[in-house]
Amino acid sequence: MHLPTFLWLWRIAAWSMGFTLVAYVILGISGGWMFWLRQQRRSRPDWVRPFHFLMGAVLCGLVLVLLAIGIVGTLGHFGSLGHSVHLYAGLGVVDLVFVSAWSAVQIGSQRPWARWVHLGSNGILLIGLIWVTVTGWDVVQKYLP
Ligand code: HEM
Ligand code: HEM
Repeated sequence: MHLPTFLWLWRIAAWSMGFTLVAYVILGISGGWMFWLRQQRRSRPDWVRPFHFLMGAVLCGLVLVLLAIGIVGTLGHFGSLGHSVHLYAGLGVVDLVFVSAWSAVQIGSQRPWARWVHLGSNGILLIGLIWVTVTGWDVVQKYLP
């Protein structure tokens, strides 16, 4: 395939990553707010949980889009996967997002551990997101004219 096609693809990846980071920050703020309200034994407005949940779903969708772009683009260019640590960073981030989403739906008085799994996976996810951005930025240089 020709170079411009790939530049297009990586440009979409860079934008999706920007939205991913924005979604993460919004989730951090809305989740942190829920946490704080609970500590203060105050009730939370009805919209906060669904809003947080919806943003979480957006985050899940974005990382799947990025995974698809990465795999399709790499297969299209090289015909195989595994050309840098970016692969492991990418797979790691996708796993963490789904551990986070899975633990989130377990949160409740019956399962006190789920909240800590959710918080822990989200903390590691921050490191993962930084790693995938840095390594993605690195490999994208190969495609720049
Ligand atoms: C992967 C997508 C995500 C989904 C589907 C999701 C969903 C949820 C749900 C359903 C709750 C439980 C609220 C409750 O009933 O008490 C929750 C709590 C929380 N979430 Fe998320 N979340 C996601 C990602 C994140 C991220 C990325 C962060 C941080 C950057 C975060 C921070 C929090 C915090 C701090 C709480 C605790 C609220 C409390 O202690 O009451 N979440 N989340
Ligand atoms: C959650 C975010 C991301 C995920 C899950 C992801 C996933 C992947 C995966 C699985 C591959 C295949 C790697 C291989 O087999 O070697 C890949 C390749 C690639 N990704 Fe990403 N990626 C993400 C973010 C980014 C970002 C932010 C950029 C930069 C704009 C980027 C640019 C690339 C490039 C240029 C390749 C081709 C690899 C190469 O030439 O060695 N990715 N991505």
